[in-house]
Amino acid sequence: MSESFAQLFPSTRRLCYLNHAAIAPWPSTVSQAVQAFAEENTQFGARDYDAWMAREDDCRQRFADLLNASGDDIALLKNTSEGLSVVAQGLPWQAGDNIVIPDCEFPSNWLPWAKLESRGVELRSCDIHVAEPEQALQQACDERTRLVAVSAIQYADGLRLQLPRLGRFCRQHGILFCVDAIQQLGMLPLDVQACQIDFLSADAHKWLLGPEGLAVFYTRPEVREQLQLNQTGWRQMDNPFQFQRDVWEPSATARRFEPGSPNMLGIVATHAALGLLLEIGMSQVAQAALGNAEYLRSQLAARDDIEILGPQAPERRSAIVNFRPRGLSPKKLYQDLREARVISALRGAGIRLSPHFYQSTELLDQGLAKIAGLLDLASS
Ligand SMILES: Cc1ncc(COP(=O)(O)O)c(C=O)c1O
Repeated sequence: MSESFAQLFPSTRRLCYLNHAAIAPWPSTVSQAVQAFAEENTQFGARDYDAWMAREDDCRQRFADLLNASGDDIALLKNTSEGLSVVAQGLPWQAGDNIVIPDCEFPSNWLPWAKLESRGVELRSCDIHVAEPEQALQQACDERTRLVAVSAIQYADGLRLQLPRLGRFCRQHGILFCVDAIQQLGMLPLDVQACQIDFLSADAHKWLLGPEGLAVFYTRPEVREQLQLNQTGWRQMDNPFQFQRDVWEPSATARRFEPGSPNMLGIVATHAALGLLLEIGMSQVAQAALGNAEYLRSQLAARDDIEILGPQAPERRSAIVNFRPRGLSPKKLYQDLREARVISALRGAGIRLSPHFYQSTELLDQGLAKIAGLLDLASS
């Protein structure tokens, strides 16, 4: 499968790009859609705005298809942080409430909650690098827990949580369940119904292969109106182009979180990216992405001068692999790899590799050969 899709990713000819957990290279289908939109804007302006709005709706629907939700449950926001902030600033907190989060979250998934401490809300952060992370999170909850907020997959070491288990616990105990899904959407399937998720937020620029600045924000209809609206604008109404009306009532759908003109350019790009993933199918994408990560992990683990960081149990692993070279600083190796056109990231205590589904074993071997060469050189 990687052979047939590699041609859609011109970056494979130049780079061994192992950094989809940061920002992904675009498939050519995305850049073609953006170029066509630029040309359309240049030649015809917004003459065909109805078609743009139809695509905007279809983009929501594609997100909904990916999540097993309804298009009405999807708002298109700017980024993951914005969606999580809408939840944090929208819920009616009482002093003494608490929020439970893992202690290793990316700042997007603790800063919005930490801001609530000035209103008397307690933030409980919990070590999830234990045998049973879900149990640890559950044990941190009590009768004043209003919300559990987790990343589906941890950004630094790829630890994957069992979302259905957490969602079931939260629903049973009347606790809201909020998921930062940016490190899972586009890598692995995610079903908001099966996971009993109340709120979910994820930008498009990582595994989803889209641009920065366009994010999906899912809200379960039954809890949507618990979120007070802190932004107001004409686009959050049903029939937004009806400019004269007596009653300005925000839509009951997730459109209520979209106050003004949309990021049409981001929508064009994301729509194309989602189209590709849905056409291939997320189970195929996941199998290939996990397979590539497993290949990197096993090849690196075979070396004495490399320590694999992150989860050991197969069901906890994802397409993120983190390793520490022995005898060489991670920063030096990361920089030398970049020079050698192998793109990784420095995260946690090591180097993070994040391959995607379309990359071939030959391409991964090129990256592995560079790592081996640099380590051999350092030890000689
Ligand atoms: C877990 C996680 N959440 C959020 C983000 C980014 O958030 P935003 O879309 O607000 O830039 C990242 C980026 O690295 C991330 O790894």
